[in-house]
Amino acid sequence: MEPLLDVRELRLSLPGGGSVRAAPVDGVSFSMARGECVGLVGESGCGKSLTSMTLMGLTRSLPGARIEGQALWDGRRPAGAASAGPIDLLALSERSMLQYRGRSVGMVFQDPLSCLNPLLRLDYQIAEVLRRPQLTDTGQRAGLRGASLKQRIIELLDMVGMPQPEMRAQQYPHQLSGGLRQRALLAIALAGEPELLICDEPTTALDVTIQAQVLATLRRLQQERQLAVLFITHDLGVVAQLCSRVLVMYAGRIVESAPTEAFLRDPQHPYSQGLLASLPGRQQLRSRAGHERLYSIPGSPPRPGQFPPGCRFAPRCPRAADVCRSSYPAMQASAAGQASCWFPGAAADSRPASSAAAVAGEQR
Ligand SMILES: Nc1ncnc2c1ncn2[C@@H]1O[C@H](COP(=O)(O)OP(=O)(O)O)[C@@H](O)[C@H]1O
Ligand SMILES: [Mg+2]
Repeated sequence: MEPLLDVRELRLSLPGGGSVRAAPVDGVSFSMARGECVGLVGESGCGKSLTSMTLMGLTRSLPGARIEGQALWDGRRPAGAASAGPIDLLALSERSMLQYRGRSVGMVFQDPLSCLNPLLRLDYQIAEVLRRPQLTDTGQRAGLRGASLKQRIIELLDMVGMPQPEMRAQQYPHQLSGGLRQRALLAIALAGEPELLICDEPTTALDVTIQAQVLATLRRLQQERQLAVLFITHDLGVVAQLCSRVLVMYAGRIVESAPTEAFLRDPQHPYSQGLLASLPGRQQLRSRAGHERLYSIPGSPPRPGQFPPGCRFAPRCPRAADVCRSSYPAMQASAAGQASCWFPGAAADSRPASSAAAVAGEQR
């Protein structure tokens, strides 16, 4: 079966200083199956948000933006769209994109206050989506009106775990706590009955208890409705709870992709290992046992336009050799997934992969 979404060599470049162009998203490829929950992780500034915004056509209007690659969509499509084979979302006009954004693909952003309209009651904001015609598996369905509209609003609020949905529906955003606002946003995103939901750090601003509730809601929806979820976060603990597969992003590129379980047990890329080693849970365990210092990866990610030649992680990598500083490592099959590293594998027993050894030999 075709993947629901197949992203190929996605690139977003923007004017840097002078004649330089910077590419915060620089050749990102991944695909998602129907109903699959995939985590996209990496430190702040690696290009996660711009990747998802570019997929939704939201970076086209940035001054000087150039977008390359493909995002092949094989889900529901509006009446009148070509029906044979996947559609490239990046090639759609802004007008056609509006047919997909919020309907085929829903989005939940990090900061719910900036996405909710402070002047409108919740029921009104959800109704805006429900009044529009909806895409279904068999084509288009008319928007809702009257009593069925009201009923659906309450259903959606109930579905995302909003307590007292009838009362809450009539409130304004400022009357809701952070967790309830986040659920309201989720309800708005789900109102369009998307097949794919992109969540960009949706729990970052929430306290731990509320975060767990929002995650439980998402997990239930994903299972009940076969909803595919792309979950962007810098929190690997959240990924472990929610996602079946992990994509690790660094300096505009995917550097590792693996099933979550294998990834947590046996990460192949030194960057992934660094991210895992800096998980608070593990730190506490280790520091209690051995009073080790809390680990964090030294340095910070390079800015777009200042990516080093070769592997972009090399300047921070404990394993970097000459080859790493001169040639970018291609994605290669690793233990259970793929990694782009000249010396993948566990830190202790890593030995040059045959191709790396060959290149290293050439350069000597
Ligand atoms: N509108 C923009 N114009 C130019 N550069 C941007 C813009 N938004 C983000 N960036 C830069 O692109 C890089 C990636 O940003 P982003 O996608 O927000 O990272 P992440 O979501 O992984 O934290 C960062 O270096 C950021 O400073
Ligand atoms: Mg971001």
